[in-house]
Amino acid sequence: MKDRSLWIVDFGSQYTQLITRKTRELGYSSDLITVEEALNRFSNRKSPQALILSGGPESVFLDKNDYSLFFKNPHLPVLGICYGMQLMAKYFGGVVEKGIQGEYGRAKISFCNEALDHFPKSLNVWMSHSDHVTKVPGEFQILMKSENNLVAMIQHQKRPLLAFQFHPEVQHSEYGKELLHYFLVQVSKLKNDWDSTTMLQEALELVERTCQENSGEVLCAFSGGVDSLVAATLADRVLKEKLHCFFVDHGLLRPQDAHHLEELKKNTSLNITILNVRELFLSKLKGVCDPEEKRKIIGRTFIEVFEEKVKEYQKNHNIYFKFLLQGTLYPDVIESLSPHKQGGKSSTIKSHHNVGGLPERMNLNLLEPLRYLFKDEVRNLGLLLNLKESWVYRHPFPGPGLGIRQLGEVTPEGLRILGESDQILFEEMNNFSLYRFIWQAFTVLLPVYTVGVKGDGRVYERVICLRLVNSSDGMTAEWPEMPQAFLAKTSSRITNEVKGITRVVYDITNKPPGTIEWE
Ligand code: XMP
Repeated sequence: MKDRSLWIVDFGSQYTQLITRKTRELGYSSDLITVEEALNRFSNRKSPQALILSGGPESVFLDKNDYSLFFKNPHLPVLGICYGMQLMAKYFGGVVEKGIQGEYGRAKISFCNEALDHFPKSLNVWMSHSDHVTKVPGEFQILMKSENNLVAMIQHQKRPLLAFQFHPEVQHSEYGKELLHYFLVQVSKLKNDWDSTTMLQEALELVERTCQENSGEVLCAFSGGVDSLVAATLADRVLKEKLHCFFVDHGLLRPQDAHHLEELKKNTSLNITILNVRELFLSKLKGVCDPEEKRKIIGRTFIEVFEEKVKEYQKNHNIYFKFLLQGTLYPDVIESLSPHKQGGKSSTIKSHHNVGGLPERMNLNLLEPLRYLFKDEVRNLGLLLNLKESWVYRHPFPGPGLGIRQLGEVTPEGLRILGESDQILFEEMNNFSLYRFIWQAFTVLLPVYTVGVKGDGRVYERVICLRLVNSSDGMTAEWPEMPQAFLAKTSSRITNEVKGITRVVYDITNKPPGTIEWE
């Protein structure tokens, strides 16, 4: 991939990805890179046409690195955000001091003189800092200050240098996108270079380039979710019969998954083989109650199934797989690149990777055509590839499936209950036209029995929990308020139609502190 004209240097802020998203929404592509990578590129005499320095958790007092390469070229436009602004101020001879109180969350800032361009005189923005610039370097002008009289925005009087103490990339910042636009267009004079057609072209080129260099057959662990579907559809355009999609039916699926698979087999040109390995998975899970142990068994068995297939194809069909096609997205790529985020807590909360160890064990190269895209871009790409809306906007479904939604031991009875209750929830979300407005919705079978009355008799039966969340990437999530009529209908149908259930509860926990799945 060639270097792009806009580089975003990640100093470790939790919002850095949002800068990339916002600039792409404005029509500008970028490389989001680590500080080390940026310094390396500059040392190798490469340069972008514009540079953005992100926020970060550290303090400029403790940062002993030399960033002069970022500021040496007097013609290079640079935008500093939060930590980036403090670095810029320090480099040019200003003073940054530790704040006693800091500014966190919403803050009102105002232009000191005439407002820039078409912007209002005051803006509500998102702040997250305690250090602040107390003396602005000589050639800079203070454009905005906060209500606490702290410097909020500065601009160099001659050079294309601009800096914000606040975070324009965060949703809560009024006119945030317009301020980024101001930097890209007015200060940097960059040309638009990003739209869905470019995105499609680049993804196709990536498949072509990777596979041409190293010819061979491609194996796809196909889940039918939007990421693997879009990745496979793209790859299919280039690879045709060289692409083999395998769908693992581990017996932990919902009724809607079977329908979806049938639809895909019928209406796409993908070469999908369904591997029925229900018995294998269920026998391995027998008697296992610990959530992490269940996840590990499911993950390991996934790999074994694929290993078996690869060997079988070599032996019986003389087909040698060289690549594993994966729907890896940009946030995962960035996450694993950033030294500030590597090995973050979230990676050890649950074991997520369904076929994680496969490439090393089978000596497969990775083919990841979506590795530069965000989820919403993948959805747009799906639509551009003429995939149906209902496929593209399908809720995420975890690799371990219902195995982590029956709490405790997985049993055929539990899977029946979960399949039926999930189907009712799915149908009612569609009947009430709610499916598209919720990020993920499912039922969980709780390992408790409660007293109820059915007909004239007392019963002692199990509990279904409805888990619905809104989120943008699954990293954080909020439970939504749902219409009373929808909740009433769903609950009534589950208690009436699903044998063994007398009680339905609604989960009102955000993530954090709860995770989306219960196990
Ligand atoms: P948690 O429970 O960690 O879930 O808040 C966040 C999102 O990830 C999905 N999830 C998984 N997806 N393999 C997957 O492919 C997994 O092992 C896995 N575990 C959780 C979950 O459904 C939610 O969308």
